[in-house]
Amino acid sequence: MSERSQQQTGRTAAHDSAFLRACRREPVPHTPVWFMRQAGRSLPEYRKVREGIPMLDSCMRPDLVTEITLQPVRRHNVDAAIFYSDIVVPLKAIGIDLDIKPGVGPVVAEPVRTRADLERLRPLDASDVPYVTEAVAQLVGELGATPLIGFAGAPFTLASYLIEGGPSRTYENTKAMMYGDPELWADLVDRLAGITAAFLDVQIRAGASAVQLFDSWAGALAPAEYRDLVMPASAKVFDAVAHHGVPRIHFGVGTGELLGLMGEAGADVVGVDWRVPLDEAARRVGPGKALQGNLDSAVLFAGRAAVETKAQEVLDAASGLEGHVFNLGHGVMPNTDPDALTHLVEYVHERTAR
Ligand code: CP3
Repeated sequence: MSERSQQQTGRTAAHDSAFLRACRREPVPHTPVWFMRQAGRSLPEYRKVREGIPMLDSCMRPDLVTEITLQPVRRHNVDAAIFYSDIVVPLKAIGIDLDIKPGVGPVVAEPVRTRADLERLRPLDASDVPYVTEAVAQLVGELGATPLIGFAGAPFTLASYLIEGGPSRTYENTKAMMYGDPELWADLVDRLAGITAAFLDVQIRAGASAVQLFDSWAGALAPAEYRDLVMPASAKVFDAVAHHGVPRIHFGVGTGELLGLMGEAGADVVGVDWRVPLDEAARRVGPGKALQGNLDSAVLFAGRAAVETKAQEVLDAASGLEGHVFNLGHGVMPNTDPDALTHLVEYVHERTAR
C-alpha cells in the first residue's frame, strides 16, 4: 500500500471509535478513556525496554517508539494511544542543545534570553524528524481501529523551558521577558507557534487521528496576560492544523480561570485538571466543545473503592456534557500501580455502556 493510502486506512478505521465520536460530540457506545502519560515509568515493560537508553534517544528510534506507545494500549484497553515522544523533541531536532534529565525534566544548555538568541529557533521541517513520520506510520498500521493522538508543547510552555533553562516554579525569567520586552516575547512565541504547528502537521500527515496541545504550565498566568501574550500564539497553532479536520485538544494544569480562553484559542476539546468539576468547567468553556478529564491522579493510590467513588463523581459531573473523554487531571504518576489503571478503564467502560 502507498504511504498515503495507508494513512487514510488508519484514520478511516479509527473514524467511528468512541474516542473520536466523543471529541466530535456524537453519541458513544461508552465513555472513552485514555491517560496522559499512560506510557512511561508506571509500566515495568516500559522500564525494561528503556534500560540504558536516554529518553531523547528513545524518541528517535521508531521501533522503540512504536513498542512503548502500544504498551499501555495492550495492557489497559484504553480507547486511544498517545504518541511516545516529548514536547522538547522538535526543539532538539532544530539543533537546540538540551537534554531530559531523569527526575528533573528538560534542561536547556544555553537559555534563550535575548533577540540574538531567537536566531537559534529556525523553522522545523518534516525532514528534521524522519523518525516521527516513520513511527506514526508504523503505529497507525498496528493500531487498526484504535486512534493515535499526536501532540506538541504549546508556545508558552516551550518558551518557559527555553527561557528558564529548565523546570521552574516561579517562571521569573519568562515573565520578565513577557512584561519587560513584550516585542521580543511576541516574536519568540510566534516562532515557537510555527515549530509546534509543523510538528503537529508531521504527525497528522503520517496518520494521527487527533492532536493535543500541552500548555502544561499556562496556569501560572492571569487571564488578561494569557489572552494578550499567549493565546494569539496558541491560536496560530490551532489555525494552522484546522484544515486537516482532526479533533484538537487543549490542556493545561491549574487553568481553571483560563478554560474559556483555552477553548476560544481554537480547541475542539478542552482538557480540565482535577481542580474544577466538569459541570462547572462546561459552564466556563461554553457550548460547542467536548471536555476531557479529570480524575485526580493521586486517587489511584487510594485503593479500589476510593477510585470507583471518585471516578463515579467525575462521570456524574460529566453526565450533562455534549462530549466527554475520561482522563486524569494530569499525568499518571510514576509510582502508580498499573493494575489500578486497568481497573479504572474497566469501571468507566462498564458504568457508561449504552
Ligand atoms: O504517555 C504519554 O503521555 C506520551 C508521552 C509523553 C512524554 N512526555 C513522555 C515522557 C508526553 C505526552 C509528554 C509531554 C510532556 N513532556 C509535557 C506535557 C505533559 C505534562 O505532563 O504536562 C511536559 C511538561 C514534558 C516535559 C517533561 N519531559 C517532563 C516534565 C518530564 C518528566 C521528568 C521526570 O523524569 O520526572 C519529561 C520526561 C518524560 N517524558 C518521561 C516520559 C515517559 C519520563 C522519562 C523517563 O522515563 O526517564
